[in-house]
Amino acid sequence: MSGLFNGTKKHVATFTDSAPTEISSILAGGYHHPLLRQWQNERQLTKSSLIYPLFITDNADEETLIESLPGQKRWGVNKVVGYVETLVAKGLKAVILFGVPLAEGIKDPVGTAADDPNGPVILTIKALRANFPDLFIMCDVCLCEYTSHGHCGILREDGTILREDSVRRIAAVAVNYAKAGAHCVAPSDMIDGRIVAIKRGLIDAGYANRCMLMSYSAKFSGNLYGPFRDAAGSAPSFGDRKSYQLPTGGRGLARRAIIRDLAEGADAIMVKPSTFYLDIVSDAKELAQNVPICTYQVSGEYAMLHAAAEKGVVDLKTIAFEATYGCLRAGATLIISYFTPDFLVWLDELE
Ligand code: PBG
Ligand code: ZN
Repeated sequence: MSGLFNGTKKHVATFTDSAPTEISSILAGGYHHPLLRQWQNERQLTKSSLIYPLFITDNADEETLIESLPGQKRWGVNKVVGYVETLVAKGLKAVILFGVPLAEGIKDPVGTAADDPNGPVILTIKALRANFPDLFIMCDVCLCEYTSHGHCGILREDGTILREDSVRRIAAVAVNYAKAGAHCVAPSDMIDGRIVAIKRGLIDAGYANRCMLMSYSAKFSGNLYGPFRDAAGSAPSFGDRKSYQLPTGGRGLARRAIIRDLAEGADAIMVKPSTFYLDIVSDAKELAQNVPICTYQVSGEYAMLHAAAEKGVVDLKTIAFEATYGCLRAGATLIISYFTPDFLVWLDELE
């Protein structure tokens, strides 16, 4: 024992003295055991925090590996049910669907195929609802996969977004997904005013109380969506998305978009991408305290982590946890992740 607490002589630390100078210096007692390291998490990663993206094509029997997204496949409606069954058995709780129309001549300037009653998304909503009563089914709502020009809305002749027509069309698509049985619609187009239009559409159609509206409120334009656009065939045929997706440095715009979307009736807020935008996730947590916060670890992030692991720079599983815990720490409780099938296994190993 040092003389620190003996009350008789004033302790003076020296280099030969093993006692700490301050009681508060020692932190390791709080995390010396594996369980304690879990207890340090403000938010835990659980299976119910994870949402898995699924790419669905209009070729019902398709099952094709997507080259740019390691381990991910494009599925036809007939094949996806069997795959989802294996994931549900491991504890999958939620999916988000993306349509990938491949049929010749199916794309047009207004994205008619987006809510085709016999299109891949609507057929898959119905198939999943019929087979998995407890699975939460979300739909990305956008036109870029279905438009001939590859932009997320309807365009004027000069190539700029025709806001009113776009928002009306996107709201109609969202309502049709809700009618088909989607539990949540998540518009990713980033065109001003679509949240209020979708909410109004859901109310008028009698679905507002049975369909969540999750806004991709703060979706940044950048270099991280490449593999997705390959997978979904949704790259714009000219120009870019900079006039509707947010500029990388636009933290103020992101904050305004979050506040606006809450006022327009969003039930949940999403920030996208994730790791490069954790300040925005933290802003969302602060600005939208009364709704769930989700972040999307996008295709480029996923592909980069895989590429780094392949190079031996990182260990895949460790880095996947580290990236995900960054999102949780910043304030997200929901994460859309291509790692979901891996996490369903990895989380079991932790138990
Ligand atoms: C459609 C959409 C995109 C993503 C989600 N919804 C692509 C884009 O905006 O270009 C990206 C997802 C990913 O990269 O994993 N608007
Ligand atoms: Zn889009």
